[in-house]
Amino acid sequence: MNLQMMPIPKIEPGRPAVVLAPMDGVTDPAMRALLSELGGLTFCVSEFVRVSQTVPGVKVFRQTVPELATGGCTQAGLPVQVQLLGGDPDRVAAAALVAVRAGAQAVDLNFGCPAKTVNRHDGGATLLQHPDRLHAIVATVRAAVPAHVPVSAKLRLGWEDMNAIHVNAERAAAGGADWITVHARTKSQGYRPPAYWQPLGAVRARLGIPVVANGEIWTVEDLKRCRDVTGCAHFMLGRGAVADPTLAQAAAWELGVPGARSVAAVTKTPAWWLGLLERFAALSAAFGRPPRPIACRIKQWLHLADRAGGLSWFDAVKRIDGLTELLDRIRALAASPLTAVDEPAYPRSAAAPNGSTILLGLSPSSPARLRPQGKR
Ligand SMILES: Cc1cc2nc3c(=O)[nH]c(=O)nc-3n(C[C@H](O)[C@H](O)[C@H](O)COP(=O)(O)O)c2cc1C
Repeated sequence: MNLQMMPIPKIEPGRPAVVLAPMDGVTDPAMRALLSELGGLTFCVSEFVRVSQTVPGVKVFRQTVPELATGGCTQAGLPVQVQLLGGDPDRVAAAALVAVRAGAQAVDLNFGCPAKTVNRHDGGATLLQHPDRLHAIVATVRAAVPAHVPVSAKLRLGWEDMNAIHVNAERAAAGGADWITVHARTKSQGYRPPAYWQPLGAVRARLGIPVVANGEIWTVEDLKRCRDVTGCAHFMLGRGAVADPTLAQAAAWELGVPGARSVAAVTKTPAWWLGLLERFAALSAAFGRPPRPIACRIKQWLHLADRAGGLSWFDAVKRIDGLTELLDRIRALAASPLTAVDEPAYPRSAAAPNGSTILLGLSPSSPARLRPQGKR
């Protein structure tokens, strides 16, 4: 792989984009690898790397974001932006520099995490109550990393007050953020629907840097409504992109992202899911995850997919703990004349849809550098 030629994670005015959201414990390296093979995404954002009392070293970044060892891209060539979470401007800036030394091509700053432990320790959404500190973090990071490395900020609408987005967005832009992503809810609103997209339109119109809209986009219809309300051309998909692995492709097609392909509507039967789940299991094993936790992740995934309904067969597998047993049960369901319809989502042969076969040679005993760090 020619590392000089690798694309970098970047939002540009006038170029629509579909970004995979950072989701700690969900969009891990295996999920990023799989979704990037399916297509539609412009880039991914990594799960956050926490910067608390000490500055994480290169090793931490390479464990958390194994893509850094391959030019900052997944094996299918999709760029991954590294996300940092912390409240001390100098330490976060020092960490950003380490991330760049480790291979990061772009840095995102997390000002949205609602977790109590994170907020108690001065990170994530708590900074939305302190626009000047938020500004100082963005500006210090911007000044520390080379000019060609994009720096972005991911915000919520506010801590409790949705109007806080106006001042926080302005402070992030003044600090030198190349773009901001806004999860259209306050910290107090947690993840409860709806998302409040309305304020994003005014922020986008005033700001002068791109605004990436995020929150409650589960279907292309949601995306269109969000676009109508906000006027945004850039979108971040979180749970929706995982619940429906075809959503990113459909969104890219709707937005006219160059190279996007149209996707047929499908009924998501066991036969449709099976190849995807097998591939995810193989990728997770290649990244060093043991079988039981892989089975947990698969059930977590199907549970999320079932949110929209239509996965009645999930009931038949949700209490199975062993990976082999779980996949065997889904294979049996896929072979059953009662449930086996539709084209498989993923070819059950050696090649990924984009022709990439690079990761297929990996096994559970693959090199340690591909292993993600244990949970933060
Ligand atoms: C399980 C989970 C983990 C998350 N982890 C992160 C994270 O590490 N960094 C971050 O900025 N946002 C994180 N988020 C927030 C998402 O990036 C996104 O803003 C949110 O889920 C709303 O988008 P959605 O409605 O499309 O899912 C997380 C969300 C979930 C559900």
